[in-house]
Amino acid sequence: MKQKDIKKLIKWYTENKRDLPWRYTKDPYKIWISEVMLQQTRAETVINYYTAFIKELPTIKDLAKVSEDKLLKLWEGLGYYSRARNLKKCAQEVIKLGLTNLPQEEEELKKLPGIGPYTAGAILSIAYQKQVPAIDGNVMRVLARVYEEKQSILENKVRKSYEETLQSLMPKNETRKFTEGFIELGAKVCLPKKPLCGQCPLQECCQAYIHNKVLEYPVKKVKIKRKIEEKTVLIFAYHKTYAIAKRKESLLNGLYGFPNYSYKMSLEEITETLKEQNINGIIIPLEETKHIFSHIEWHMTNYLIELQEPPIKGHFYSKEEILSKYSLPTAFRKIFIKIPEYDNL
Ligand code: ADE
Repeated sequence: MKQKDIKKLIKWYTENKRDLPWRYTKDPYKIWISEVMLQQTRAETVINYYTAFIKELPTIKDLAKVSEDKLLKLWEGLGYYSRARNLKKCAQEVIKLGLTNLPQEEEELKKLPGIGPYTAGAILSIAYQKQVPAIDGNVMRVLARVYEEKQSILENKVRKSYEETLQSLMPKNETRKFTEGFIELGAKVCLPKKPLCGQCPLQECCQAYIHNKVLEYPVKKVKIKRKIEEKTVLIFAYHKTYAIAKRKESLLNGLYGFPNYSYKMSLEEITETLKEQNINGIIIPLEETKHIFSHIEWHMTNYLIELQEPPIKGHFYSKEEILSKYSLPTAFRKIFIKIPEYDNL
């Protein structure tokens, strides 16, 4: 997006904006109330709530003093009542600070209860003419399409990078139209399922539109938080044969694997363990490996143990046999195929 695209957006907004009551005010208090209500429901529904609320509580001082009953009555049907309670708490803090309206500094605003980055950006750019962007879900969808954003929009770093982008594009003297323009575009044109690309002022710079992939964006995948499990894998070797056993654990149950422990073991610990079990072997540390399952990640510390005497337990097979006859999961196979077959094994 370049300045000429922003000019087109602002022109489109000026000519097409909906007639909504909060668009006639510059009062930060009123803008704030409208924005919090708009996070709850559609603009058309907010109109009556907003009008009644402002009529009843025209200033932040009135809100700070309102009774709980009256407040909840004004909010009735909007849902998420903690938002309404937070409005009052916030108003009380503002009054306690000796102010008559919301602070103009981003950091001060964000310290107040219930005011996150979106609400702060909306208040600052719409009411205070500050170059602070406001990115809600609708604006994010516009950006994800314009930039054909391959990463999930749920990722914090994606939002952060768009905050910077919008800040650099926001004209100093038109912060309000800029923010409202993006919001309006997301609400009326850049729709989730049936976008009206024919009417879009950003068509020329929209990468998703250019590549005919508008409906593929935004990407919303949640990054899976995998549980990390440490493993120590022991490959016992004797004369070019190796010990494997059928797994009984729920993960990879019924497949074959090498003996392993569910924690990371140092060379000293392995030495100690073998000694305790009267196993005489030379321990060779192997490369550490990682294996990713859908919800678990194994971080594997691997050792090759060259037995110096014939094994007294376990089932030993040749490398060829193991690889061709037994189902050895990739997590183990990756380690196995890398071990050198020394002549003395
Ligand atoms: N949704 C969020 N903020 C809005 C605004 N200022 N106008 C219309 N819809 C919105």
